[in-house]
Amino acid sequence: MKVAVLPGDGIGPEVTAEAVGVLEALGLTGLTLTHADVGAAAWRAHGHPLPPATLEAARAADAVLFGAVGDPDCDTLERHLRPEQAILGLRKELDLFANLRPAKVFAGLEHLSPLRGDVAGALDLLIVRELTGDVYFGAKGQRINDQGAREGWDAMSYAEPEVRRIAHVAFRAAAAAGQPLTSVDKANVLETSQVWRDVVVDVAGEYPGVTLDHMYVDNAAMQLVSHPGRFGVMVTGNLFGDILSDLASACVGSIGLLPSASLGSRQTAHGTFGLYEPIHGSAPDIAGQGKANPMATILSAAMMLRHSFGLEAEAARIEAAVARALADGIRGGDLGGSHGTAAIGEAVRARL
Ligand code: NAD
Ligand code: IPM
Ligand code: MN
Repeated sequence: MKVAVLPGDGIGPEVTAEAVGVLEALGLTGLTLTHADVGAAAWRAHGHPLPPATLEAARAADAVLFGAVGDPDCDTLERHLRPEQAILGLRKELDLFANLRPAKVFAGLEHLSPLRGDVAGALDLLIVRELTGDVYFGAKGQRINDQGAREGWDAMSYAEPEVRRIAHVAFRAAAAAGQPLTSVDKANVLETSQVWRDVVVDVAGEYPGVTLDHMYVDNAAMQLVSHPGRFGVMVTGNLFGDILSDLASACVGSIGLLPSASLGSRQTAHGTFGLYEPIHGSAPDIAGQGKANPMATILSAAMMLRHSFGLEAEAARIEAAVARALADGIRGGDLGGSHGTAAIGEAVRARL
């Protein structure tokens, strides 16, 4: 069980350290951790946000535990040198096309959600976000248009095979959970979405046991805050999934609570190779202050044990410890509490 740990920037190293501490506390035999630079930290040390050695360390591992990348000082660099290119590069290079972002309100903790308790209590959703295509990875650029104005452009596209493989992931997840599947698109306006919808309908034929519906993304955003309980599994493209998952995290209570798994097709000895990261970013506004909530990263480590190492019982132990810590009132500033990053990590370890 070789894990490449890539802490990154801002709160990335702070939250990753606590997740590593939780993994170490489990005392798993055969778990080895190697650290590598990524993001602005790697750009400063090596001149590139995703140095070849870091990509190699990720490739050589069975799983990657990732913190966050992003630094305001780098926002004016040429795009290929910006920290965000590191996570985009890892996803593309490692073909991590399936991003699982579960969002569930913790039982008894409905009051942590800004939604009314009876609405929030029903939220238990898995967002399956396509992660290696869409407008993120199309051609893009800036130009001077016919009117002499500066213009930015980004090409959005999805090819049938890209949609087909993520649709299968989503249908399998829905079938396994006995949940309905909602495909979210913008087929009323975008050709990209028309192809998306047609392929999802086609794949549905192979899963007669799964109830499928389609929803436009604007409506989906609205339904997420008004009737979140209507969703079981949601499948959507890269851009819509990015936005809706931050929205779903706010419905749970904080972006500091949502983990993710980014999976490809490469198999490891006991599961699937994957990259595991919180859905949040480097949070420059609180970085270096020991205030960040590490629970999303700790829960991402649990997903790693489940998906890459087949350690379901250990994953569940971590998840139960986090739920217990929250129920016991251990909360960071993001949830209106005063526990710091290290104290939250310690509290989770104490409840393992
Ligand atoms: P962000 O997710 O970093 O922060 C948004 C807000 O949530 C901030 O107020 C932040 O303090 C708070 N927050 C985030 N995580 C938290 C945690 N664990 N505990 C407590 N509060 C938390 O998003 P942003 O501010 O839009 O972006 C900051 C930088 O991060 C940018 O450079 C962006 O590109 C990058 N980013 C990286 C990733 C990634 O590495 N996968 C994801 C999102 C954003
Ligand atoms: C995320 C982030 C990334 C994305 C950025 C940092 C490239 O927002 O992982 O959600 O847009 O996918
Ligand atoms: Mn995001």
